[in-house]
Amino acid sequence: MHDFTYKNSELYAEGVPVRKIVEKAGTPTYIYSRSTLIRHYRAYREAFDGYPHIICFALKANPNTSILKILSKEGCGADVVSGGELFIAKKAGISPEKIVYAGVGKTGEEIAFALKSRILMFNVESAEELKAINRIAGKLKVKAPVALRVNPDIASGTHPYISTGLKKHKFGIPLDKALEHYKIASKLPNIKVLGIHKHIGSQILKTAPFVDALKKVLSFANTLKSYGINIKYLDIGGGLGIPYNNGEAPPHPKDLAKAILPLLKAYPFTLVIEPGRSIAGNAGILVTKVLYPKKGFDREFIIVDAGMNDLLRPSIYNAYHDIAPVVRKKTAKIFADIVGPICESGDFLAKDRNINRPEQEDLLAVMSAGAYGFSMSSNYNARPRAAEVLVNGKEFFVIRKRETYKDLLHGEKVPGFLK
Ligand code: LLP
Repeated sequence: MHDFTYKNSELYAEGVPVRKIVEKAGTPTYIYSRSTLIRHYRAYREAFDGYPHIICFALKANPNTSILKILSKEGCGADVVSGGELFIAKKAGISPEKIVYAGVGKTGEEIAFALKSRILMFNVESAEELKAINRIAGKLKVKAPVALRVNPDIASGTHPYISTGLKKHKFGIPLDKALEHYKIASKLPNIKVLGIHKHIGSQILKTAPFVDALKKVLSFANTLKSYGINIKYLDIGGGLGIPYNNGEAPPHPKDLAKAILPLLKAYPFTLVIEPGRSIAGNAGILVTKVLYPKKGFDREFIIVDAGMNDLLRPSIYNAYHDIAPVVRKKTAKIFADIVGPICESGDFLAKDRNINRPEQEDLLAVMSAGAYGFSMSSNYNARPRAAEVLVNGKEFFVIRKRETYKDLLHGEKVPGFLK
């Protein structure tokens, strides 16, 4: 559910016509709805109400400071995967004791930064990383709180590029080697073993993979207990899918809670959940302007001013995003490819889409773009990155201004001999 709806044939973001936002902010622009974000966050909080838990928003989905402030004011924590994300989360006011840090390649610098920040725990992905954290914690004279990320070898049924919990994946410690790792961890002097972590993939549309993975992890936690290793935090990762309106019917957080909480009843854990997409995805849209309609050999193209540098998901995952007119018109229905201005055939937002024929200058909304939209955008083809706008009821605010040409040169230095 979201708060982008039509009134008199016009698309609104909460109480503001999208057209009005574009008059001020231009295109392409990401627009986010505060009320949708809050509703999605609260859906998790209410669903898991009966069990101790911390909800850690996965920053990679959308690290805009204003988005994070909305969530942190609600009590949300953060799942970060880099020093940069940790820096942003802290700046946005997320309290470090609600920050977990995953990722297969943490650098020494990042580890030291996280230790000094006193985060809740590292989700550790290898024995070598464990040793590095131990070494750095020793230098800083602190004990490093850790969970080990295990790879449960569970198929999550999602796109191969966003599955993470199979044998062939680089993520986590193979479950059959995890005991060995916990034994090492519990002997390292500067490590405090606090938890166990798993994350099996993203855009998961059934509860079964979560249940199957959890069963494996719980049985492993029992083994740990028999070796005297007691876990406090059970981090189940993120991954719940959202409707992109291509027939998906994902479970609600309530359904997820209903499926997994009964399994946890007997355990005195604090649950950590790391949702990204299911909080931010349908809280954002990308608005773009039609530049040129064009007829190809056997198809029609609608060329718009947003490209794969603005929204990469269709190009790399063949992901489906609904395309909706900002003002509905009764023009003829056509099938068209909606494509960007980038010099790559893979630069498209939608393929063979049945839409009302848009005219030049018309505005189109790419729906469900609040997660992995702006955060994956780039300057490819030397295109300034889009503006971001936050809507709050009848008001809206530019929360990141559009980049300028000058921004494209930021950080560059020309050596003297070329001047
Ligand atoms: N926790 C960990 C350790 C993760 O790796 C991820 C996502 C999440 C939580 C959040 O997952 P979510 O609730 O958002 O599904 N760029 C891709 C998605 C990559 C997800 C990577 N990890 C896309 O646009 O679909």
